[in-house]
Amino acid sequence: MAKIVRVGLLGLGTVGSGVFEHFQKGAGRPFGIELKTVAVANPKKERDVKVPKLTKDVNKILDDPEIDIVIELIGGIDPAKEYIEKALRNRKNVVTANKAVLARYAKGLFALARKQNVDLAFEASVGGGIPIIQLFRTLRGEKITKVMGILNGTTNYILTKMEEGLTFGKALNDAQKRGFAEKNHILDTGGFDARDKLAILTMLIYNTYVDPQNILCEGITKITTVDLDFANRYGEFEGGISYTVKLLAIAQKENGILHLRVHPALIRKTHPLANVTDEFNAIYFEGELAGAQLHTGRGAGKNATTSAVFSDILRVANNIRRGTPGFLPTLDAKVSFGNADTLIRPGYLRMDLLNEPGSGAEMFGIFAKHKLNVRNSIERHKYSYQYRRKEFVPDITNIDAASEKVIKEAIFDLKKSKRVRGKPMFIRFED
Ligand SMILES: NC(=O)c1ccc[n+]([C@@H]2O[C@H](COP(=O)([O-])OP(=O)(O)OC[C@H]3O[C@@H](n4cnc5c(N)ncnc54)[C@H](OP(=O)(O)O)[C@@H]3O)[C@@H](O)[C@H]2O)c1
Repeated sequence: MAKIVRVGLLGLGTVGSGVFEHFQKGAGRPFGIELKTVAVANPKKERDVKVPKLTKDVNKILDDPEIDIVIELIGGIDPAKEYIEKALRNRKNVVTANKAVLARYAKGLFALARKQNVDLAFEASVGGGIPIIQLFRTLRGEKITKVMGILNGTTNYILTKMEEGLTFGKALNDAQKRGFAEKNHILDTGGFDARDKLAILTMLIYNTYVDPQNILCEGITKITTVDLDFANRYGEFEGGISYTVKLLAIAQKENGILHLRVHPALIRKTHPLANVTDEFNAIYFEGELAGAQLHTGRGAGKNATTSAVFSDILRVANNIRRGTPGFLPTLDAKVSFGNADTLIRPGYLRMDLLNEPGSGAEMFGIFAKHKLNVRNSIERHKYSYQYRRKEFVPDITNIDAASEKVIKEAIFDLKKSKRVRGKPMFIRFED
């Protein structure tokens, strides 16, 4: 008879309780997998799930010679990283959903797992229920030239609601009420969660270490309904197709240089990613042989994440019985990363302009000074407002492709102008 594989679970929150309930329903039985011990921070806490033996002592899992797989679902960096390391040092296989730890410490953790000849599986760290980690592992022989992902469900939900007419604040409130957004939402809305996930995908695809801090990262907190409305009506202005705004995580190889970035972007409504709405995630990529593919599904939540964690448990249990852990990349390939300032993209600049003669001329003067070629400029009087008895009107100016450096310099000058209120916002087109 095949060896019974025993599992220890660290964490019984959103995902941990999903995994626990799945075991409780007997999901491990057909595969000879048993959940032995569950550890939490506070065993006395009131919970929806009833666990017979709940411990606070994680060492009852990490040091238990009977436990083969440690499932880390605590989240955050400390002490999660320490527990993962201890489990690996004790020659236990680890399944984790922890993107924060992986994005920062993958290289050392992968090396430790390889040295100890055990598995480190992390399907749930990116894309929730979409088996994207497994997919990219199997496509190692493929040259992937472009990846564009909607990797954060919270921001996608907020942008969808803003497209329906809600302000950022109201859409965020709605997301919080539905449990999609945390009270402290900046990890999501600031783009940092998507940045960590992009780092993990890039490491897998290009077998190189990526420091998430080096990825250009802009969130959606400055996006307004003016942007969504303008994107939607862009076809009317330009006689073409309408656009929408999505928070995209992009890895793109151009002339041997890899550019990584996370930012809100305008995409045509006909683009496959434009139809990915609400809390859904999607990963679009272009492979030299495979061509373009889109994978979409629920990117977070109890059930979708439990599905990903359980698929890892099954794979790892299988590897334990075969006596061979799964492949982990060495992350030592030499890759040339592009400097964010050299990135050249078309986009628009939105700024609140004083509604008085001469404001447009001053704005165009600044564009000319920085050699920015203007395609068109539209004042959205529908959104004009009073500030200190002066009227301001949001103006959207489409700019031909320019480098980030030049755009930054132009924004610096525009911000200094007394005719511009606040900091102008640059939104790039991604087709
Ligand atoms: N939520 C999602 O939809 C989702 C999706 C994809 C990936 N993830 C990832 O999955 C992981 C878990 O997320 P979650 O949303 O389930 O977190 P969560 O709801 O905050 O739950 C965290 C759990 O960890 C326990 N815990 C905290 N510190 C501990 C410690 N020092 N020792 C033992 N247990 C400890 C907590 O115990 P108490 O219950 O006693 O407080 C709680 O049960 C994170 O890495 C997250 O990024 C989550």
